[in-house]
Amino acid sequence: MSNHDTKSGFSHEKIETNNFLMIVLILVVVAFGGLVEIVPLFFQKSTTEPIAGLKPYTPVQLAGRDIYQREGCYNCHSQMIRPFRAETLRYGHYSVAGESVYDHPFQWGSKRTGPDLARVGGRYSDDWHRIHLIQPRDLVPESIMPAYPWLEKNLVDAEAIPAHMKALRAVGVPYTDADIAGAAAAVKGKTEMDALIAYMQGLGIHLK
Ligand code: HEC
Repeated sequence: MSNHDTKSGFSHEKIETNNFLMIVLILVVVAFGGLVEIVPLFFQKSTTEPIAGLKPYTPVQLAGRDIYQREGCYNCHSQMIRPFRAETLRYGHYSVAGESVYDHPFQWGSKRTGPDLARVGGRYSDDWHRIHLIQPRDLVPESIMPAYPWLEKNLVDAEAIPAHMKALRAVGVPYTDADIAGAAAAVKGKTEMDALIAYMQGLGIHLK
């Protein structure tokens, strides 16, 4: 566009020949587009409300979730079943946002060195998990998953759980005072193995 055909007094050439103006205007447009897509998600029931039957993690499950994160299980396992036939045939119903409303932070991920774990709850017995975590190759000879034998020996840190639940309550997880008061007693004497298995057995069981 040349200058001679501008009647409005503002030429598009001004934008196209001015890097700074171009960058600023692109940022404004992209930011606006992003907000239009993202903001409604904070107000939609399907993304903000728990699905029917979903309960906050019990203290033992919460301790297990901490161990899941500490040990970096998420580096190899996602917890997000995509809405594709190949995925739903293998893992079950695709994941919905309402299943993760009590997860802070969520564990969806995308790295799948191992299988997705979003619906692993109830798929194996507690004993299966115990043997598998102590030595995956005892059950799956070709497995490349690391062994986690120390989980069987360490006790859960009972003191840390009530504070953790309070923090979760501050971001909207509906724990009652009684839940928090009883948390230390609930995890007392539990091994990290018990807690991690309790966490996994609760994954994805509310939507089949
Ligand atoms: C280096 C990558 C890696 C890491 C880290 C890892 N896994 Fe795995 N996991 C695998 C692979 C590969 C398999 C498939 C073979 C097998 O069953 O052992 C697997 C399988 C599993 C299964 C069976 C899933 C199914 O549907 O059959 C569970 C449960 C599991 N892992 C839990 C865990 C937990 C809990 C942790 C953290 C303590 C963990 N994994 C860490 C790679 C990993």
